[in-house]
Amino acid sequence: MLKLRALSRADVPLLDSRERPERAGEFNDFGPSSDPGGLEGVLTTGLVPGSEMGYLVVEVDGEVAGSVSWHTVSYGPNYQSRCPNIGIALLPSWRGLGYGSPAQRMLADYLFATSSAQRVEASTDVANVAEQRSLERAGFTREGVTRCAQWRAGAWHDVVTYARLRADA
Ligand SMILES: CC(C)(COP(=O)(O)OP(=O)(O)OC[C@H]1O[C@@H](n2cnc3c(N)ncnc32)[C@H](O)[C@@H]1OP(=O)(O)O)[C@@H](O)C(=O)NCCC(=O)NCCS
Repeated sequence: MLKLRALSRADVPLLDSRERPERAGEFNDFGPSSDPGGLEGVLTTGLVPGSEMGYLVVEVDGEVAGSVSWHTVSYGPNYQSRCPNIGIALLPSWRGLGYGSPAQRMLADYLFATSSAQRVEASTDVANVAEQRSLERAGFTREGVTRCAQWRAGAWHDVVTYARLRADA
């Protein structure tokens, strides 16, 4: 059974990717400035529904399989025009087993249940076919390519944006 839960201190040695970049995957290499506090920061700040950013552990049959996270993006200067943009990093041994899709579906359900967001979105590298398939199976719709949107691993990358709307099934 797959579930999402809060991070605990015992998870940190399994999930910390600062010294083990393969845990985050080649499409999640945003450099040290993206995460100055690391998982210690997640533990100490606490993450509550409606917060600007969040992080939850993906657990499968009692084992840590990876993590999901979100940050807020904005399409205008008012509060209503904000929405969460989600991400996922399954640990290498948990990839290719079909868990990415239910984990991201569950995170979107959680964010709709705990906020007033009308859309939950996800952006992934144009080359990340596994994530694109995973998002489609999780009920997300492909919206288009945003060029030179991400600075990652020393270069600019085009991303595909997907979204699930509150009104979607
Ligand atoms: C991307 C990720 C979430 C996908 O979840 P997953 O559970 O491993 O994926 P699945 O096993 O459900 O596979 C998804 C689909 O992609 C396909 N796929 C997997 N790897 C692929 C590849 N290299 N090329 C093409 N298709 C691929 C699978 O065949 C499957 O297709 P299907 O839906 O037609 O059956 C997971 O692999 C992961 O965390 N990777 C590392 C971090 C990452 O890239 N995160 C996203 C950054 S935005």
